[in-house]
Amino acid sequence: MLLTGASGYVGGRLVRLLERQPVALRCLARSPDKLRPIVRECTQVARGDVLDPPSLAGAMRGVHTAYYLVHLMSDSKDFEKEDRQAATNFAGAAREAGVRRIVYLGGLGDDADPNLSPHLRSRHEVGDILRASGVETIEFRAGMVIGAGSLSYQLMKSLTDRLPVMICPRWLTTATQPVAVDDVLAYLLAARELPASGSRTFEIGGPDVLTYADLIREYARQKGLRRWLIFVPVLTPYLSGLWLALVTPAKFEVGRHLIEGLKNPTVVRDKTALGVFPVRPMGVTEALRKAIADTTE
Ligand SMILES: NC(=O)c1ccc[n+]([C@@H]2O[C@H](COP(=O)([O-])OP(=O)(O)OC[C@H]3O[C@@H](n4cnc5c(N)ncnc54)[C@H](OP(=O)(O)O)[C@@H]3O)[C@@H](O)[C@H]2O)c1
Repeated sequence: MLLTGASGYVGGRLVRLLERQPVALRCLARSPDKLRPIVRECTQVARGDVLDPPSLAGAMRGVHTAYYLVHLMSDSKDFEKEDRQAATNFAGAAREAGVRRIVYLGGLGDDADPNLSPHLRSRHEVGDILRASGVETIEFRAGMVIGAGSLSYQLMKSLTDRLPVMICPRWLTTATQPVAVDDVLAYLLAARELPASGSRTFEIGGPDVLTYADLIREYARQKGLRRWLIFVPVLTPYLSGLWLALVTPAKFEVGRHLIEGLKNPTVVRDKTALGVFPVRPMGVTEALRKAIADTTE
């Protein structure tokens, strides 16, 4: 089994679960030295970069299932082109090595929406590229992942922790259906056991559909914070990104790409996942409670 993105948030949580499975695990990492101390001794760590095709061949050798939990955009200005290149490299190497299944976590959002953000469109395109390789691909599409180290959760947390009064752009009224990280991990793990039946895409989310403003209010309620949200229609995604850069620790580019995606509803329209997997996702109240409890700072 191969895991890419083990140094990231979702991958870093998944690695601990995969290490408990009765199967050899190999992690692909750009900086093996950073990963080595946090994985078990029996876990292999292969140096590799999805933007460097020759580095992938060895890592794929003998692999049945390869997890693709890579997110390039934090480093990249032209993230769409790089996402495309990375997925093409990964899928090509998987096909060459005879990998049987790719499991990928992407984003929710309606492909038919002409205003779908470049970020979400690119996440969907990555799924298309992986499938087009001919390797059976299980794609999960999720909205905000609620968990202590998740970037989108941290953005929301930073805003709410720091600003008693928030001048809010319109996107805070967009509908979203967040999912707890534990439930995402349960889906990713269960994807290994899915009978082979060709590539499939599953939309996943918790039971609650709400707005980002509702999410902020619930987070504030649980933290005992009094917060006022004032809505203004004129805050463009660009200005919202600048605003985020001022009040959050995340890099401006990351904030801007994420913000552009926040104007698009991220709601589960196809509930097939609930029929296929034994996962019963928890609600937002419970997911936030766990994320707050897990936060160390
Ligand atoms: N977090 C969320 O709210 C959320 C919501 C929906 C979907 N997702 C999806 O879940 C997946 C994982 O997200 P995440 O939040 O865990 O991301 P993350 O914390 O930013 O981690 C990204 C991972 O990608 C790796 N990576 C970046 N560039 C690479 C390269 N060139 N070659 C190899 N590895 C590379 C990073 O490794 P380095 O340590 O080397 O940088 C890191 O391990 C993404 O596909 C994302 O779209 C996340």
